[in-house]
Amino acid sequence: MDTPILIKHAIAILPNGPEAVDVLIAGGRIEKVGATLSVSGAQIIDAKGLTLIPGAIDPQVHFREPGMEWKEDLGSGSRAAAAGGVTGFLEMPNTQPATTTAELMAAKKAIAASKSLVNYNFFIGATPEALPDLLSTPNVCGIKIFMGASTGTLLVDKLADLDRIFSQGRRLIAVHAEDEALIRENKARYGAAAKPEDHALIRSPEVALRATRTAMELSRKYRRRLHILHMTTQEEAEYLATEKAGIPVSAEVCPQHFLLPAPDCYEKLGTYAQMNPPLREKRHGEALWKALKSGVIDCIATDHAPHTREEKDKGFPHAPSGMPGVETSLPLMLDRVNQGLCSLEEVVRWMSSNPARLYGIKNKGRIAPGYDADLVLLDMAREKTIENGKLQTKVNWSPYNGWKIKGWPVVTMVNGHVVFREGEFFTDRMGREMIIDAPWDRGEDFP
Ligand code: DOR
Repeated sequence: MDTPILIKHAIAILPNGPEAVDVLIAGGRIEKVGATLSVSGAQIIDAKGLTLIPGAIDPQVHFREPGMEWKEDLGSGSRAAAAGGVTGFLEMPNTQPATTTAELMAAKKAIAASKSLVNYNFFIGATPEALPDLLSTPNVCGIKIFMGASTGTLLVDKLADLDRIFSQGRRLIAVHAEDEALIRENKARYGAAAKPEDHALIRSPEVALRATRTAMELSRKYRRRLHILHMTTQEEAEYLATEKAGIPVSAEVCPQHFLLPAPDCYEKLGTYAQMNPPLREKRHGEALWKALKSGVIDCIATDHAPHTREEKDKGFPHAPSGMPGVETSLPLMLDRVNQGLCSLEEVVRWMSSNPARLYGIKNKGRIAPGYDADLVLLDMAREKTIENGKLQTKVNWSPYNGWKIKGWPVVTMVNGHVVFREGEFFTDRMGREMIIDAPWDRGEDFP
């Protein structure tokens, strides 16, 4: 058994709010949370002046392994996560081969067990055939459906196929909500689109709204647990606000969709700003932020989707869509706390406790006895600039290059073990598979 760890003098964000407490960790779990704890033989971490939060869980990343390890792999992606205060991730199935069977899922989990520094689980990818593996593969965070085509070949765009997948079983379905037929129509209409900003016209707000409506109608029809990935439009946020009650649906937003408005993002970043669904005008970002603040949107994800500079430099429309983000999402949100735009409790809700609740991840997302010791110490006063070339993600660029951020993670602990401290990694112990223990899988309602 490891030596117990006692974190002293931190301001911790507890389920009921911030409190000056000590936290005792033993056997990888939080054992006690109390005013002044002392334990003989414990290793002390003096956290005076620092803030303790439950580690962030990024519920949408693409770590590219197997098959595209030149962009990222489960080791490099997980180090980027740890450096950004992310102690767990849910990874997408559009690898090569795509993760569509129990066998491929087991192979991916085996790679993660050998090289992921933080905790993990994976989506299984839906195909029109709706393989029985979608439901029978054990311990999977959800079924991913690409309703519109993006990176890779996964696509389910016919209503009959979608209906069949929604009708079978109870496992959570997460949708990339873009309407493929309308994307194709728009592509034909715009002909030889020449500029990255045309991307947001082809993948228009209507493209997103149509698919989100279809998915929500299917969720209503079958009472099927649904998660809308990376919501991007004012129209979807308004639709969700009126229709959400009574449907077992949740939704997420990525920071780039409220931090990098069009047209500026395309002028400054060109194809580096190109992603699916696209970055859009300010009115959308403002509506998404409002929806997040009011609880209509439940959580933050990054859609960390690394592509190399060489690939991004191919120009529009040849450059692949996607941008990295797992390493910068928490600092960007801490900076917003420092700007007075939101509270740290809200950030913890959006990035830790809600992702755990929305996916039914066991023992995560809270600083409370019995929960896993996935914890992050923050220095809310630290200022640092995000710089290309100084990142952990293999592609080593960020759309936020040059942004000076106030509020950074300084220590990241996974299962009671420090994996990152002040720029240094400790790789002697790997992360673990996160356990999905979701009420809807047992036939209970989404609370
Ligand atoms: O822009 C995107 N890139 N959107 C996605 O849905 C997929 C991702 C990728 O894997 O590159």
